[in-house]
Formats: sequence, C-alpha cells, structure tokens
Amino acid sequence: MSQQTIILITGANSGVGYATAQTLAAHPNHHVIMACRDLQKGQQALSELQSKDLKGTLSLLQLDVGDDTSITQAVNTVDEQFNRLDILVNNAGSAAPSSTGRARLNLIFSTNVIGATMVSEAFTPLLLKSEKPYLIQISSILGSMSLATDPSSESYSVSWDDYRTSKAALNMMTVQMHKQLQGHGVRVFAFCPGLVRSNLRGEDEAAVSAHGMAGDPLESARGILGIVLGERDDEAGGFINKDDRLPW
Ligand SMILES: NC(=O)c1ccc[n+]([C@@H]2O[C@H](COP(=O)([O-])OP(=O)(O)OC[C@H]3O[C@@H](n4cnc5c(N)ncnc54)[C@H](OP(=O)(O)O)[C@@H]3O)[C@@H](O)[C@H]2O)c1
Repeated sequence: MSQQTIILITGANSGVGYATAQTLAAHPNHHVIMACRDLQKGQQALSELQSKDLKGTLSLLQLDVGDDTSITQAVNTVDEQFNRLDILVNNAGSAAPSSTGRARLNLIFSTNVIGATMVSEAFTPLLLKSEKPYLIQISSILGSMSLATDPSSESYSVSWDDYRTSKAALNMMTVQMHKQLQGHGVRVFAFCPGLVRSNLRGEDEAAVSAHGMAGDPLESARGILGIVLGERDDEAGGFINKDDRLPW
C-alpha cells in the first residue's frame, strides 16, 4: 500500500478547493488529486500549484459531479492508480448567481446535494479500503436550521433561500452518512469554510470579495488540514468550522 495519504478534492481549480489543494499538498506524505470538471481550468490550476514547489504531490482528474459517467470513470481511475482513497473532500458547489427560478434550483441541487451524494456513494468502496478514511462535505453555516431560526443570529436575515436549502439538505446527508459509515471507521464531517474569496457569488471583484467582507480561503483550508491531520477526530459526525462546532 502506498505510504502517501491519497486525497481527492472536487472543484479543486477555484476558491476553497484550490486553497485546500495547495494547503494539503504542502505536506510531504500527501498526494492530492485535483478533481475538476473542466480539464483546461484544472490543468492551469495544477500548473500554478506545481510551480509553488510544494512538498507533496498533485495530479489532475476529470470529474463533473453532475455526470454519472464522469463519476464512474473517476472512481475507476483512482481505483486503478491507488486501489483506495483516504480522504474525499466534496467541495464542488454552486450558488448559480446568474440563474433564476427552476433553473437555479436545478443547478444548485444537482451540484450541492445530488452531486455530493452520488460522489460520496461512488467513492465509499475505495474509502473503505483505507486504514483511516475521512469524508468531508463542504457545507455552509447558511445551511444551519438552528441559526436560520434564531433571530439573534446574523444568519437569520440572510436570504439566499435556494442555496441555504441545499446546504441544509447536504447537512442531513452528512448525518445519515455518518450513521452508516462510522461503524466502518469512516470519519464524516460537514465543514463550513466561512465567508471567503471565491467565484461562488460571481466573478467580478465585488462578488468575489463579497463587497470586501470575504476572507482568505487559505484560512478555510487550514481548518480542513486540521481534520485531515486527525485534530478534529472527536468531532466526527459533526458540523464544524475551522475553530468550533456549529449547530445543525
Ligand atoms: N466562498 C465562500 O464564502 C463559501 C462559504 C460557505 C461555503 N462555501 C462552499 O465552498 C465550496 C467551494 O466553493 P467556492 O466558494 O470555492 O466557489 P468557487 O470558486 O465557485 O468554486 C466552486 C468549484 O466547484 C466547481 N463545480 C461547480 N459545479 C461543478 C460540477 N458540476 N462538477 C464539478 N465541479 C463543479 C467549480 O468548477 P468551475 O470552475 O468549472 O465552475 C469550482 O471549481 C462550495 O461547496 C461552497 O458552497 C463557500
């Protein structure tokens, strides 16, 4: 068995996924598979990270979480190359800022809920071959039902209804997968990266920076590194951010 920890990150060419690939690949015993739906964007991101002289290794894999054929091919490729997966970071997500109505709901749910579920299920057999598997769902504090219903919470007055509903569904999926997989040694987490710079809200500077309020996704990545290094094992099955446990 390869001594490296094999990590797959979906949506690794941008934002939180890219920062996570950079942070996790800085460790010498990590191999990070950058799973991207667009190989051109993926190759550009891979080349940028490889120029940073990171201590771990990186590779690129085509994976569109909305396409079952792509998911199956990705699983087969990881199986052939590594015969297992140690860590799956289901990061790919969408807020579909330029769509409306049913089209927006379809896009958001097919990526954030159905895509994350199909990818989790498809890679579970490879996770079960790992000695210490982790399944990390990149959620959002906006998916917290407790905070959405608490008038004293900043989350209370945020709209983003479709996106919030999708992340609440992702949280329930996380709870259910934790119950199914904990007996098999898989540590399942829902992780909120916080409000950070990315293309989630759109690609102009105001959207990327959330009008100057967004932080650095490398901070989110450090939180994910903490999970990967086993520092949060006692919180498995929970909803967490880089510092704390969050209320469902
Ligand atoms: N940034 C924040 O403030 C924030 C806060 C809370 C939670 N999050 C969560 O963090 C995660 C990452 O988002 P981000 O903020 O980094 O946004 P981002 O910069 O837009 O990155 C999203 C990534 O997901 C990919 N993606 C979208 N649909 C996909 C599909 N069908 N198949 C495969 N990949 C797909 C995108 O690929 P393309 O480049 O090809 O579109 C991109 O690589 C999401 O789950 C998001 O909900 C972000």
